Amino acid sequence: MHKPFYITTPIYYVNDNPHVGHAYTTVVVDAIARYHRIAGEEVFFLTGTDEHGQKVAEAAAASGISPKEHCDRFVQNFKKFWDDLGIEYDHFIRSTDGYHEKAVKRALLILHEMGDIYQDEYKGWYCTPCERFWTKKDLVEGSCPDCGRPTKELTEKNYFFRMSKYQDWLVDHIEKNPEFIQPESRRNEILGFLKRKLNDLCISRPKERLSWGIELPFDKDFVCYVWFDALLNYITAPGWPEHPARFEHTWPADYHVIGKDIVTTHAVYWPIMLKALGIDPPKSIYSHGWWMIEEAKMGKSLGNAVPIPKLIDLVGRDALRYFLIREKVFPLDAKFSFEAMIGRINSDLANDLGNLTSRILKLLSSNFRGLIPEPEDATEIELKLRDVALDSAEKVRKEVWNMRPSKALEAACELVRETNRYLEKTSPWSLAKEEKFERLETVLYNAAEALRVASILFWPAMPDACDEIRSRLGIGKVPVRLDDAFEWGELKPETQTRVGEPLFPRLDEKKVLAELRDKDKSRPSPVEDLININDFAKVKLVLGKIVRCRPAPDADKLLLIEVDLGEEKRQLVAGIAKWYSPEELIGKTIVVVTNLEPVKIRGNESRGMLLAAEAGGQVRILTVEGELPPGAKVR
Ligand code: MSP
Repeated sequence: MHKPFYITTPIYYVNDNPHVGHAYTTVVVDAIARYHRIAGEEVFFLTGTDEHGQKVAEAAAASGISPKEHCDRFVQNFKKFWDDLGIEYDHFIRSTDGYHEKAVKRALLILHEMGDIYQDEYKGWYCTPCERFWTKKDLVEGSCPDCGRPTKELTEKNYFFRMSKYQDWLVDHIEKNPEFIQPESRRNEILGFLKRKLNDLCISRPKERLSWGIELPFDKDFVCYVWFDALLNYITAPGWPEHPARFEHTWPADYHVIGKDIVTTHAVYWPIMLKALGIDPPKSIYSHGWWMIEEAKMGKSLGNAVPIPKLIDLVGRDALRYFLIREKVFPLDAKFSFEAMIGRINSDLANDLGNLTSRILKLLSSNFRGLIPEPEDATEIELKLRDVALDSAEKVRKEVWNMRPSKALEAACELVRETNRYLEKTSPWSLAKEEKFERLETVLYNAAEALRVASILFWPAMPDACDEIRSRLGIGKVPVRLDDAFEWGELKPETQTRVGEPLFPRLDEKKVLAELRDKDKSRPSPVEDLININDFAKVKLVLGKIVRCRPAPDADKLLLIEVDLGEEKRQLVAGIAKWYSPEELIGKTIVVVTNLEPVKIRGNESRGMLLAAEAGGQVRILTVEGELPPGAKVR
């Protein structure tokens, strides 16, 4: 039997709710999976949550609940977000699922018994947030080369996976299979990385340091390293090792779609783990770029600036899905901006697709009581429209199969624009006035037919809107065999259509921007409206005295503020130049959030955030009454 098209997202850490970056991968994979489904393929689309390890343990501790309770709570949120975004996964794996934990232990036992996992003493520099050991030469000025944060020197007994043994095999595999790591730039990076000798991978954590993980089946004092456990989800979900028939039917994965932050784990550790277990590697690992805010990667802290539920409320879920897929060229980075989102939705959806739909349906309603007319013979211009439609369908298919989802939507837009042009040229309004009804029948039939084809081409990105277009055209939901649906002339004359409300009402930029920026009105996240005192305690607030302040170069809204926090001095970047001059601020004692991830704003590093109040366009910073020294904790 034919193997399904198997596509995955990463399994996401449950230390917080998903943000637009996570939503991006999931929406794109959902759309690709839908394209394959309507092409008649069997599809297995896997997503889920990565629940073990330090990050999750720390998030749970900060909320004063057990890690499992914490995960159960956040998994509900992930599922709710994905439902709200119309994600139709085939399976949602939790790395705490019993079958997964059992399978991870099985993999560990196999590798231990064959000698590919061994115990050794380990001395290294550990980065707690990244949960990674580094050698001294990896460090950049003593700090983690990945995140730039300080590392701690540690010596401990641990278990290691003999990755080095498989290095030559991996290089050979990558060289012989150009599609294995995509895009090519990432493939070259990995080949470059593999020029150095690979170290064996430390796959255990002593329980005394971290107990939240899968216990090693051969040593109960250790748990498994979170990445080793997480990567295995891609084979445990389709049934390895307990359900060999299901597993054989599904594996290998066609695509692991991941962000460019996790290429090494997927393109080096993962194929080697599989090779050692005697399992074929996935066919392809596709890494996409990041959504950025200003110069920084949208992450946990910045991601919250763009709350998904509020975006869905304001622009609609299909429009949001469309924007995410269309705006970012898949492998590259893209800057997220509300203005770009509104502009894109207004031009492609409100003006082009929405307008086309209502034009056709209104003309049908006013001239033919909403019934699809019987067309006369096609003239040259109808034949051209048909060719463009069938061409766009072919282009969309090609682009999706080549993992270029943004280009696929561009090709679908081309058909919409061509159909609008067709209406301009054939001018059905004049035909109606001049009572040239036969010609009008042909024009409206062909325009409606082009809209029907467009409803299929856009459906994977915007399933609800496209099913609505089809329902207004009096036809059923998108069929599962693309090829048949692309026969020209599928619409049956006499079918009843209906006009309906505008599909994509034009967004009023000013109004939407004001709503988006008004944080007070943001819909509460589905976690809970009230936060518990332990959640609040996660935020470290400290008094700081401003010792230096100057305008940021090339950014007239920003000030660079050097603040004395008692034990250290830090630079903050604050957008308050409109309300304060640097001279006014020097000497003031302010309240600083000190445990935010560092970010770069217009090229300037900000290590924390000052607190300020805002009302009626006025901003005032928070200070303390009376004298207290820098470094004093704010509770
Ligand atoms: N748990 C690991 C993955 C294990 S897979 C076996 C992990 N999780 S994560 O929650 O940090 O999610 C990482 C993924 O989220 C990225 O690889 C990417 O797919 C997506 N993104 C997170 N931030 C992103 C952007 N700013 N932009 C685009 N995608 C981003 O790593």
